[in-house]
Amino acid sequence: MDDLKPQLNPNDHPGKDVYGVIGNPIVHSKSPVIHQFFAEQTKQPIHYGRIYAELKEFKVKAQEFFAQGGKGLNITVPFKLEAYEMAHKKTARAEIAKAANVLWIKDGELWCDNTDGVGFVRDLERLLKQQNIKPQEARVLILGAGGAAQGVIDPLMSLGIHSISIANRTFSKAQDLAKQFPGLHAIALDELSGAANKSENSNKLENAEKFDLILNATATGLGDSSPIAKELLQKLAHSKTIAYDMVYGKDTQFMKDASSLDILAVDGLGMLVQQAADAFITWRNPNLALDIDGALQATRASYLSA
Ligand code: ATR
Repeated sequence: MDDLKPQLNPNDHPGKDVYGVIGNPIVHSKSPVIHQFFAEQTKQPIHYGRIYAELKEFKVKAQEFFAQGGKGLNITVPFKLEAYEMAHKKTARAEIAKAANVLWIKDGELWCDNTDGVGFVRDLERLLKQQNIKPQEARVLILGAGGAAQGVIDPLMSLGIHSISIANRTFSKAQDLAKQFPGLHAIALDELSGAANKSENSNKLENAEKFDLILNATATGLGDSSPIAKELLQKLAHSKTIAYDMVYGKDTQFMKDASSLDILAVDGLGMLVQQAADAFITWRNPNLALDIDGALQATRASYLSA
């Protein structure tokens, strides 16, 4: 089998309930590490593997997996929309997102759910608490206006965040999102720099004008750049600010800049673990108490040993 195109047949794992993650590409997915960790912790007899699907064969692959007795799938890029469309039954949060990252069979029907939003919310609650910031007082800046940015707006609003601003290289896209989500404030990148510079000594911007959470939802994390200059990041942040990059598995330039300024820098691994936890209890048992910190550590360790 091609190492970059792993396949998973539930019949090869007798005596175990088989789950998997399907995507393109898929080989770097950490979902198997997280689910196997939860399975060992809660003594659940499962096997969890990766499935590669060509761009046009998602539906066929997913159907084949369930026909072979597979119990549940996580869905990653670029198939979340198709997963949502193929399910017969959809949870309310999948309906809101119009995208699904979980599929499973219940009473003979194919269900889908979206646990990405709740995963992000849980991770953010943990971080805000750690930094002693109340959601209803928090000022949030989202950088980017693509799919990743869009996916966090509703979850952020559900937390009752005080104010949410969005900035993007192409300003019109931020404006489009602001029209879709009442309460969301679009701000141009140069306006952002201007705001930071308006004070004579801009490093002494009042804390009330700075952001408690700066979220990098651009695609820059995949390359080697940051959407904002380090000097601007410094002006927009205070000592408790969280610089959150939605990418995981590497220290992005945005995170490196934040760390060098003594700003708390986090990647999207916490969100990944939390969305997996929600899928796991949906599939296995809602009463299971999962060790989130343990799963985070195990997943980070798997990067170091890779
Ligand atoms: P995704 O679905 O992962 O969010 P996307 O829809 O392609 O991906 O959106 C990518 C986002 O990253 C966009 O906000 C994009 O900005 P533009 O709308 O101006 O294209 C942003 N982005 C990508 N590369 C960037 C860069 N080098 N600097 C700043 N923003 C960048």
